[in-house]
Amino acid sequence: MKILILPDPAAAVARCVEIIAQTLNEKPQAVLGLATGGTMEPVYARLVERARAGEIALDRMTSFNLDEYVGLPPEHSQSYHSYMRDRLFGPLGLDPSRTHLPRGDAPDPAAEAARFDAAIAQAGGIDLQLLGIGGNGHIGFNEPSSSLASPTRVKTLTLATREANARFFGPEETVPRFAITMGIATILRSRHAVLLATGTKKATAVAAMAEGPLSARCPASALQLHPRATIVLDADAAADLELRQYYETVHPQGQEVALG
Ligand code: PGA
Repeated sequence: MKILILPDPAAAVARCVEIIAQTLNEKPQAVLGLATGGTMEPVYARLVERARAGEIALDRMTSFNLDEYVGLPPEHSQSYHSYMRDRLFGPLGLDPSRTHLPRGDAPDPAAEAARFDAAIAQAGGIDLQLLGIGGNGHIGFNEPSSSLASPTRVKTLTLATREANARFFGPEETVPRFAITMGIATILRSRHAVLLATGTKKATAVAAMAEGPLSARCPASALQLHPRATIVLDADAAADLELRQYYETVHPQGQEVALG
């Protein structure tokens, strides 16, 4: 794991965007795995800004999102289809045929999950998978106890996740109980996994992911098996890392240093 610690959330977001930009510069037709959640909102805002300034082009990429709530149609205001349309795809006018999310309203969610994995393989696999982390260590909606070899499938959300996400739903609405999520095996097949975490609420999960045992108790710990995982943190999210000083020596201010 490459652990990059930046002084504050804005710097961590900028570093994450830089990594995405580098991938797109090297391979404009890259396949990106995208994530949702509060942490990613400033990432998409910055990508839109940079694309509008002509500094990055996203129009040739293909994307696959990590997850979608079962039961929500794409038009629902809290669906991840809407999240992505509002924050990235719409503002950049991206061709919808290049952007993929699982259909939460598919009549057979299990079949939809299998179709999604097949579509990723058909597209040549994911070049860069963007990830957030839940306070309970989930990646995508792979909740604790998820098989570390899981394909894309339907998962039941924990109460903690439903409570954490209730802030996005209206007072009369309930957070769905199920989601279709990329599996951990699917995530591990990506050629580069980039996880962004900011804020003290993530510090415990981040330490468990990077320094705890490889365990389904903390699904993000599966990234220890990924040949190329980059973890981008702000100082608060890095607060519980025992080896923090070492990571800061290897990558001062979260930057690469030349060997020699
Ligand atoms: P958040 O969610 O960015 O809204 O904290 C991350 C996650 O649950 O994966």
